[in-house]
Amino acid sequence: MPTPTALPRIVRKRSKLHGLGVFAREPISKNKRIIDYAGELIHNSKSGVREARYLKQGCIWVFRVNRAWSRDAAVGGNDARYINHSCTPNCWIEIEPKTRTIWIRASRRIEPGEELVYDYSTVGDHTIQCRCRPGCKTML
Ligand SMILES: C[S@@+](CC[C@H](N)C(=O)[O-])C[C@H]1O[C@@H](n2cnc3c(N)ncnc32)[C@H](O)[C@@H]1O
Ligand SMILES: [Zn+2]
Repeated sequence: MPTPTALPRIVRKRSKLHGLGVFAREPISKNKRIIDYAGELIHNSKSGVREARYLKQGCIWVFRVNRAWSRDAAVGGNDARYINHSCTPNCWIEIEPKTRTIWIRASRRIEPGEELVYDYSTVGDHTIQCRCRPGCKTML
């Protein structure tokens, strides 16, 4: 079995994009696993109610794993819950189907101090205006 390598050091702090964000504390090489998006595993038959409740507060915490399951980072989440969205992301998402683990991975080399961002690819009402760059028309 391959030896698991240490995850890169990251820090949560205030972001220009929105509220808190997550930033690299050391160089991260392309495709490196950075952190898993932790949260309670819930069936999608229950996720709609929670999503709607969080959206009323302007927040997206429920991450769709597949057609059946989601993870709710508001329950048992880690720092991954603070990673913001960008339409030009530096991270991509890998789903481990057996464990339903959501990995945030680097889509290119990331320098220390850079904010980590991925494309939320949200489904549903799209009520939040994206602020990834001036004039961005995407609704999250
Ligand atoms: C998973 S949280 C990210 C952490 C958030 N910044 C915080 O401090 O709680 C997702 C929420 O952050 C905000 N957000 C993330 N990326 C955004 C973006 N590009 N533009 C506008 N709001 C964003 C939205 O309110 C979204 O519901
Ligand atoms: Zn955008």
